[in-house]
Amino acid sequence: MSADIKHRTAALRAEVERHNHAYYVLDAPTIPDAEYDRLFRELQTLEAQHPELAAPDSPTRRVGGKPLDGFAPVRHAVPMLSIRTETDISDTGAIAFDARVRKELGLGENDAPIEYACELKFDGLAINLRYQRGVLVQATTRGDGETGEDVTQNVRTIHCIPLHLKGCAAEVLEVRGEVYMSRRDFERYNERQRAQGLPTLVNPRNGAAGSIRQLDPALAARRPLSFFAYGLGEVRGWASPATHNAVLGALAALGVPVSDERAVVQGAQGLVDFHQRIAAKRDQLPFDIDGVVYKVNSLALQVELGFVSREPRWAVAHKYPAEEQLTVVRGIDIQVGRTGKLTPVAKLEPVFVGGTTVSNATLHNEDETRRKDVRIGDTVIVRRAGDVIPEVVGVVLDPSIPQGERKESGRFDLFNRLHGKCPVCGSRIVREEGEADWHCTGGLFCPAQRKRALLHFAGRSALDIEGLGYKLVDQLVDRGIVNTPADIYDGQKLDLQTLAALDRMGEKSAQNLLDAIAQSKRTTLARFIYALGILNVGEATAKDLAQHFGSLDNLLAADAESLQQVRDVGPVVAQSLVDFLAEAHNCEVIAQLRASGVHWPEHERRQTAELPFSGKTFVLTGTLSGMTRDEAKERLEALGAKVAGSVSKKTDYVVAGAEAGSKLDKARELDVEVLNEDRFKKLLNPVK
Ligand code: IVH
Repeated sequence: MSADIKHRTAALRAEVERHNHAYYVLDAPTIPDAEYDRLFRELQTLEAQHPELAAPDSPTRRVGGKPLDGFAPVRHAVPMLSIRTETDISDTGAIAFDARVRKELGLGENDAPIEYACELKFDGLAINLRYQRGVLVQATTRGDGETGEDVTQNVRTIHCIPLHLKGCAAEVLEVRGEVYMSRRDFERYNERQRAQGLPTLVNPRNGAAGSIRQLDPALAARRPLSFFAYGLGEVRGWASPATHNAVLGALAALGVPVSDERAVVQGAQGLVDFHQRIAAKRDQLPFDIDGVVYKVNSLALQVELGFVSREPRWAVAHKYPAEEQLTVVRGIDIQVGRTGKLTPVAKLEPVFVGGTTVSNATLHNEDETRRKDVRIGDTVIVRRAGDVIPEVVGVVLDPSIPQGERKESGRFDLFNRLHGKCPVCGSRIVREEGEADWHCTGGLFCPAQRKRALLHFAGRSALDIEGLGYKLVDQLVDRGIVNTPADIYDGQKLDLQTLAALDRMGEKSAQNLLDAIAQSKRTTLARFIYALGILNVGEATAKDLAQHFGSLDNLLAADAESLQQVRDVGPVVAQSLVDFLAEAHNCEVIAQLRASGVHWPEHERRQTAELPFSGKTFVLTGTLSGMTRDEAKERLEALGAKVAGSVSKKTDYVVAGAEAGSKLDKARELDVEVLNEDRFKKLLNPVK
């Protein structure tokens, strides 16, 4: 074999891993997917032709090997302990922990506050990653804490876990953390399964745990998992920093994913503040957490505090209210969606879950309802996590009640329940071969579909017309005032007088609504695409489309093939777009919307270099007083910038708002330019 081939293989491995890291850890892709695939295939081919070049840390090993008969037991070099949990969800949990630590250390009232590292309590599965001389050699589950299972093959398929550490030759470095499934990946996976009539995952945690314990690594590889490190196991030949937070920083520098959502705080009040700050944003996090974790930051103090009954005295988990609860199904309604989709919805005995009272929960479709066998009168688990709509996860059968004595005698049957007719417009209902959903055939003749389409259009993630809620839309559609989204901007149809005459409106709220409508005209391409309500085009896809095509005209001109060049757009989504645009009616609405002044900053893909921030990477941290983080991101992206999730050498600017955390430290460490809010605003509006 020539030295060239050896060289090329090594170069390819390094390059593929670099792109992997950018994509999965930094969330800032560096090359198009197709190019990545090309590099990956070239590497695969070289390795197949030259088996002597095989290496355990080659990125090609991520695709999963042969199915296993079982998992081999592995004794942990250092036991994997658990932590005490404060179930008391008010502030007192934090205060009690600080008091215990101070007492244990013999500190009095006048002694300085203890420094704590605060982090999230990820809701997944604990994993130990063993690196020898920087190469991942083994991954194990926690098991009983003493002995776990060897799940190396499956863990290798997790793209954000480095197969080797950057610049680390330590004899042994065990990284401990949590494997989890993000909400977005969980939703996408379930959507896909549902569309194919395959079983869905109950929740992200089970998704993560189940995937790791899959005996067939090829199946495990299909489940999208992620990882965050939160500590160390055995360490040999590695100079550990002196604090927990610095350890996490050092791990991040080695390429290990570490959550940015962490803070170093002083004393009990610092813990309470962190608990509250995270509670306020729990819904917006991209993954589930069930609480936060406080750790004494100094490793020396950790040693001094030690353990009690196999739990460290220096750490505690502080919980949040649960996102799953039990309740009873009072009825099953069928709702007509924006696209005519008929969705069975469970009417529940109201229950407090995930921070709100829930009385409706989706059952998704007929097959899911039958598979879970949900019937009126059943006790069910309801789940509400983040912004995701509440759903019935499953039935908890009461073993004392014989099956035959359940309130409803048979499994759910959507067609019979509706006598074959749309509950809103009476049109025929159909379920196509191979489809999971029943649909109303009424199209926009069906008022339910018209109403949903309008509500979606005006929704917060779409054109964001404040005040255009369902009560108003009901009236506007029922009275025939508004039929399409374009009618909203038609001053002849929607004028002050007409609006003021509606129920619950007055001149003032009518004027407010008109102002909100006028304001909504200035939007972004991604929001506009999303607002159109195209089947299978959610928020994430709309963003990808906007970024890829840069302008609406480019998107309108795309065919099914070029649509599939977009990240995560497969044949199904591409076909939905093609079908949508093939409807003359839809194109007309788009044209009317543009004619009425709905606009957004557009950029041609090839001309991005002309935008002021093209090629610049920003990272946002802390809270800005004048705008939300999403707004700041949108503004920057519209100016050509890339907004990344974490700070690296490639970051050009870090925008630091109030309470900026570890990203700001990182920026200083790497000497990245930091902008405060004032300077940031000046940069966005140079003329002012
Ligand atoms: S520290 C000795 N930190 O919670 C301390 N654990 O009982 C070891 N977990 O199953 C754990 N997030 O997998 C720690 N930021 C975090 C965590 C965390 C989740 C899990 C862990 C274990 C349980 C602790």
